[in-house]
Amino acid sequence: MAKSMLIFTKTGELKAYLNVVGKHPNTIGFVPTMGALHGGHVSLIALSKKWCDITVCSIFVNPTQFNDKKDLERYPRMPEKDIRLLEKAGCEVVFLPTVEQVYPNPESESFDFGYLSNTLEGKHRPGHFNGVAQVVKRFFEIVVPTKAFFGSKDYQQVMIIKELVKQMGSPIEVVSCPILREENGVAMSSRNTLLNMEEKAQAAFIPKILYQANLLLNEKGVDAAKKFVEHETRQLPLFRLDYYEICEAHTLKIATHLYENEKYVALIACFVGRIRLIDNLPVLF
Ligand code: PAJ
Repeated sequence: MAKSMLIFTKTGELKAYLNVVGKHPNTIGFVPTMGALHGGHVSLIALSKKWCDITVCSIFVNPTQFNDKKDLERYPRMPEKDIRLLEKAGCEVVFLPTVEQVYPNPESESFDFGYLSNTLEGKHRPGHFNGVAQVVKRFFEIVVPTKAFFGSKDYQQVMIIKELVKQMGSPIEVVSCPILREENGVAMSSRNTLLNMEEKAQAAFIPKILYQANLLLNEKGVDAAKKFVEHETRQLPLFRLDYYEICEAHTLKIATHLYENEKYVALIACFVGRIRLIDNLPVLF
């Protein structure tokens, strides 16, 4: 019979448990989430289960990473459904803390990630990555994972976490995992549940536009691709483009020309109705 999943709500109790079962040679895989779980999250759990002995998943809607209060209020919450999904996925441990358990001291820590936290998402969502780093560092200190799994849908977030681990001088291995998509190509996201039928139908244009722009990019260059994306998104009444950029894959430096020996990624953020969605696609030559 499969072992039943353990659910912790108290930091001290989780730490005490992992102190016993997480000892060498056992490895701990950690999947931090904000809940409203979908196939993307489940794929991270599956990878963690593949590579580690014990998988810990946290569900915590972290208030410090929301720069828009309305976004925080409307963020979907469905813990019972999430627990059932995690049980089915074979996750061993779930951490469902309250804000007080995560932040016993109200003062917040400030991080310096330089350019990385001031561009793209950082520029459009001031303070967002500071909040992400704050909560992930706190979780890393509680869980002390061997490996931590993050989705490349949040491309810049993975880079920030890698930098955080470096600054912490921590041996945690940050694993970047592939984007899972819905049948219509839209990157799976908890925020997709907030879209109505019409918005859902329009959101399906995001991956299509990204893909077509990548083809154009190879043929006609960065400017043509940008003009194309701006034009296409203007045609869609529910769309508001936040940014579309071609960036160097390892630095996120914004590219104006492509060089053959460099790797690039196309990144997009846009509102569909009230809901802000992000996606990205590697540029292949
Ligand atoms: P959340 O949006 O819940 O995402 C949790 C993890 O799932 C992140 O690593 C994210 O990149 C990954 N993920 C989301 N959609 C995915 C998809 N379609 N395919 C693959 N992976 C996907 O990201 C956060 O929460 C928070 O910022 C967090 C790291 C938990 C800190 O609060």
